[in-house]
Amino acid sequence: MTLCTTRQLVPTKELLQNALKGKYAVGAYNVNNMEILQAIVEAADELKAPLILQVSAGARKYASQAYLIKLVEAALNSSTIPIALHLDHGEDVEICKACIDGGFSSVMIDGSKHTFEENIAMTKKVVDYAHPRGISVEAELGRLAGVEDNISVSEKDAIYTNPREAKEFIERTGVDSLAIAIGTSHGAYKFKNEPKLDFERLEAIKAAISADYPLVLHGSSSVPEELVKICNDYGAQIPGAKGVPEFMFPEAIKRGIAKINIDTDLRLAFTGGIRKHFVENPGHFDPRQYLGPARAAVKELVKHKIQILGTDGKAAV
Ligand code: G3H
Ligand code: 13P
Ligand code: ZN
Repeated sequence: MTLCTTRQLVPTKELLQNALKGKYAVGAYNVNNMEILQAIVEAADELKAPLILQVSAGARKYASQAYLIKLVEAALNSSTIPIALHLDHGEDVEICKACIDGGFSSVMIDGSKHTFEENIAMTKKVVDYAHPRGISVEAELGRLAGVEDNISVSEKDAIYTNPREAKEFIERTGVDSLAIAIGTSHGAYKFKNEPKLDFERLEAIKAAISADYPLVLHGSSSVPEELVKICNDYGAQIPGAKGVPEFMFPEAIKRGIAKINIDTDLRLAFTGGIRKHFVENPGHFDPRQYLGPARAAVKELVKHKIQILGTDGKAAV
């Protein structure tokens, strides 16, 4: 299926190659509804930033692929920046094929919970289906989890991405980008103690693979204290939340990360906006009254992310 628009989606491969050359990262933002999509696209368009919109299986189930595709079509037609539409964490070959057939320009096949050989086999199947159609593929190797300081080296090796395996995986699958595990995790509770990422391992992975190969960092929300505070001040209970500190992103980008996945921070901004509005305006019950400020909060957040990742002004490059 092609999208009904004169502007076409771009494959993530193209965006990530530009990012590596330009020494910045492209933010990949999760989309679940119209307001979040509008906020992300308006922010990126205003800052002239290339953009990856990503849709999880959960988002497909919640909003339906047909609606999401039409919303993304509208986003393309109302912006000028390059946009990729990417499946986030596709768990099997079938969902990847359905997204490719439905008009996505990029898919992730996440075989990270399977054995190395099974992960290779399923990734290769998706690559063989996607590449002749001009679609990019991301895969994942290693498990996304924070590890305690007192964990043994062998336990850590079992969780984080192995550089030698990363090289073999890329060579045998031909996959366009690889998500790696170096200590990030999904959600709002990433670290019990001080935030720590294994940058040495990232350097070893980068050294093992080709210099112009793009790596992906999932679980990259920063869980900003001010956003958690707004949520908590207006009735939420999100104690002890902790994310990836912002100063770590330039460090990760320097070492070959070209795509940075952000979902939790969008959820916090959106939720904080709604909660604050409800508390301050108990008489309001028109959804536009509370979804509008929530959308504005997400837009402000995404503008900040774009600046942190160095993506601003890169749309024309
Ligand atoms: O990586 C997970 C993303 O945050 C998507 O989450 O499966 O709840 O849509 P979800
Ligand atoms: P966060 O939960 O840190 O936002 O990560 C999102 C993600 O990795 C989506 O694939
Ligand atoms: Zn993820």
